Amino acid sequence: MNKPLTLALTKGRILKETLPLLAQAGIEPLEDVAQSRKLIFATTEPGLQLVIIRGTDVPTYVRHGAADFGVVGKDILLEHGAEGLYEPLDLGIARCRLMTAGPVGWQPNGARVRVATKFANIARRYFAQQGVHADVIKLYGAMELAPMMDLADLIVDIVDTGNTLRANDMEPLEEIASISSRLVVNKASMRARYGNIQAIVDRLADVVAQQS
Ligand code: PRP
Ligand code: MG
Repeated sequence: MNKPLTLALTKGRILKETLPLLAQAGIEPLEDVAQSRKLIFATTEPGLQLVIIRGTDVPTYVRHGAADFGVVGKDILLEHGAEGLYEPLDLGIARCRLMTAGPVGWQPNGARVRVATKFANIARRYFAQQGVHADVIKLYGAMELAPMMDLADLIVDIVDTGNTLRANDMEPLEEIASISSRLVVNKASMRARYGNIQAIVDRLADVVAQQS
């Protein structure tokens, strides 16, 4: 039998929205992924297995062909690049906005702005486009803390409900990008196993179309 096709999923909130979409396309893990510490799961689809990893690692697995395709947030593709990947389908899940945000009432003061974010590349590109001198400070979480502790003036972060900003006396300012999860496919896999992969892409596209 052929090597199984491997679909890399982003764990966390994206996974909670991905599993129902896969189920509607007839693809279900053979055990409860939430109850397991395993990383690889066989599925009801013969020849298709899932791996469940951090979103930032999904493009790496797919780019190198260790996974044939994957589900990942557009924020990660914008931040880390999408070379070597096809992006055939917007799954329309885990929708949110990538925004600048600051303390309520914040006003620029001087020519430079300190920006805390885990999206350092996106932030540098965005402020350069705006003609603003930004000193970008890379963080790995809880960006909202940075202005309160005077580590930064502004943040660039994901805004979903806005609750985290409100809870920390901050407000959204400018939208940088509208985000949702995307299906990405390894370019070599797409050529070598076109029939198998495209059949799954088509089933997922049908489910997405029914939902919009
Ligand atoms: C994410 C994001 C925002 C928040 C947005 O943080 O970085 O802080 O959720 O959601 P909301 O608008 O609905 O409040 P997360 O909880 O993933 O933690 P982290 O930033 O520390 O990784
Ligand atoms: Mg956060």
